[in-house]
Amino acid sequence: MNMTERLRLRLRLRLLTLLYVISCTILNTWSVVRASTSQDHLTSGFKATPNPAVSTFQPILTDSTGNYSLGFLRLNKTQLTLAVVHVLSSETIWHANITRLPGWSDPTQLTFNGSLVVSDPRSGVFWSTYTDGDRVWLSNTSNLQVETSDGSALWQSFDFPTDTLVENQNFTSKMSLVSSNGIYSMRLGQDFMGLYAKFKSGSDPGQIYLKRRAMQAKAEIVQGQPIYAVVESDGFLGMYQNGTTPVDVQSFSSYQQPVSGVRRVRMETDGNLKGYFWTGSSWILDYQAVSDPCELPCSCGPYGLCQPGKGCGCLNNNETEPQTGRCVSPGNHNLVDFCSAYDNKYKALRSSGVDLPYKELMGYQIMENFQECENACERNCTCWGAVYRNTSGFCYILDYPIQTLVRVADESKMGYFKVSEGVGKGKMDVGVGVGVGVLCGAILVIGGGLVGYGWYRMRRGKQRGVSGYVKEEGIIGGGVGPYKDLGAASFRSVELSAR
Ligand SMILES: *[C@@H]1O[C@H](CO)[C@@H](O)[C@H](O)[C@H]1NC(C)=O
Ligand SMILES: *[C@@H]1O[C@H](CO)[C@@H](O)[C@H](O)[C@H]1NC(C)=O
Ligand SMILES: *[C@@H]1O[C@H](CO)[C@@H](O)[C@H](O)[C@H]1NC(C)=O
Ligand SMILES: *[C@@H]1O[C@H](CO)[C@@H](O)[C@H](O)[C@H]1NC(C)=O
Ligand SMILES: *[C@@H]1O[C@H](CO)[C@@H](O)[C@H](O)[C@H]1NC(C)=O
Ligand SMILES: *[C@@H]1O[C@H](CO)[C@@H](O)[C@H](O)[C@H]1NC(C)=O
Ligand SMILES: *[C@@H]1O[C@H](CO)[C@@H](O)[C@H](O)[C@H]1NC(C)=O
Repeated sequence: MNMTERLRLRLRLRLLTLLYVISCTILNTWSVVRASTSQDHLTSGFKATPNPAVSTFQPILTDSTGNYSLGFLRLNKTQLTLAVVHVLSSETIWHANITRLPGWSDPTQLTFNGSLVVSDPRSGVFWSTYTDGDRVWLSNTSNLQVETSDGSALWQSFDFPTDTLVENQNFTSKMSLVSSNGIYSMRLGQDFMGLYAKFKSGSDPGQIYLKRRAMQAKAEIVQGQPIYAVVESDGFLGMYQNGTTPVDVQSFSSYQQPVSGVRRVRMETDGNLKGYFWTGSSWILDYQAVSDPCELPCSCGPYGLCQPGKGCGCLNNNETEPQTGRCVSPGNHNLVDFCSAYDNKYKALRSSGVDLPYKELMGYQIMENFQECENACERNCTCWGAVYRNTSGFCYILDYPIQTLVRVADESKMGYFKVSEGVGKGKMDVGVGVGVGVLCGAILVIGGGLVGYGWYRMRRGKQRGVSGYVKEEGIIGGGVGPYKDLGAASFRSVELSAR
């Protein structure tokens, strides 16, 4: 080969390389675009995999208005679930109840073969609709449906609500709305709507803290038949049994006022059930099942004391743990009970002028005096505390970790509480930039900045008074951070022990 030939060859090689690079770039871009392009329905043979470049939500399927989208939602940075989000606000409306979360990486896939399936070849099926349908689509009301070619629905996400109920979605007594931290739930009973708090593990829904009995003003409940609830376009949460006349109406503040957008209610992580409507650019809060924050089970955190109109303090004479700013060391939140040899050390904390926020829904025993009530708890290692009312002789035994109590003027209302001493103080892995949120009950919530922000707001609320922070917590529902719910949804899987 002479010089010129060599030069020519080199040039050709370079050109080829350049061409290769260019075509690869184009192909890559094209495939990324294709992967992130959302469709309006899925048919048999469909397959999607998570795109590593997407940091929050990867749309797969969009409804006809473009308001809602089904896609992969990133959780805990490396995992995913399948979710329906409201596109403009990034609020999660629904997500698949996957117990074991798949990773946000290539072998994980969403397929449709009659069933909508999340699987990976190694771990198998994570979640499936177990249907034999012909197509999947998302309605303009956010209902994800698997249906047959003649249009009959075999499976719909409306039958498996997460924490949110949208306008006109039927909520039956077999369903529950569960807050994304897994602690609070809304359920229907024979003739009531109940809010429940689960502060210790177990299968029961937990302690009921709000019971809304159907007023039955316009229609009566027939015993033995189930009731159901619907968020109505007219601006109320109705309970129904037979026919279209509600047996109960809980009206929102925009009741019978025409609002521009859709309505929804959500079981929030603070234990309140809240209603919102969409203005076109933000969600406006127009309903709260619990209007007084002191009536929430854990408004001031574990061992907190809520002073109506004033704000938060601690049962322990307002003294907080120096390191954490909380009322007791974090180990107390994870303790199951005081029965095991390691956990049986505790000190007693007594306060007067305290009451339970929802005592009328709790069981009690009649006792002669506070001492007797205290002894009953002292002797029993599954008891966390007791509250006694001198005037009636009612002794309320608390068989779950102590949450927030309410400050009352009547000093004859007394409480006895166990504070664990066996657990490490302040021993907790708090990574840099990781905020520790409002810790209520047995489930420890750890996560990104948003919850940390919530805690920060709550602490600010401590200084400003409860009414101050209620306003901050969102009478204006707008401005909620993107994927707010999502962040929180991931916490359920982070049940970690600080010990
Ligand atoms: C849905 O989209 C329409 C326009 O396509 C808009 O007017 C409406 O406000 C949207 N609703 C929601 C809930 O985003
Ligand atoms: C989610 O799944 C778990 C386990 O299968 C179940 O116990 C729980 O009730 C489900 N939650 C909802 C909201 O359906
Ligand atoms: C669909 O795919 C899932 C997961 O691969 C599999 O378990 C299921 O049997 C398939 N269903 C049909 C009808 O082929
Ligand atoms: C939603 O879909 C229904 C039919 O399924 C239609 O009647 C209605 O006009 C649609 N609403 C919007 C806002 O597109
Ligand atoms: C809700 O229930 C009513 C009556 O039971 C039914 O007519 C309606 O179609 C249901 N709506 C949805 C969205 O399933
Ligand atoms: C201990 O308390 C639990 C409830 O906290 C109760 O179910 C149990 O019967 C009590 N045991 C005794 C011996 O009193
Ligand atoms: C509780 O009631 C008894 C008599 O019923 C009374 O002697 C006692 O002083 C009361 N204690 C308080 C703290 O009010």
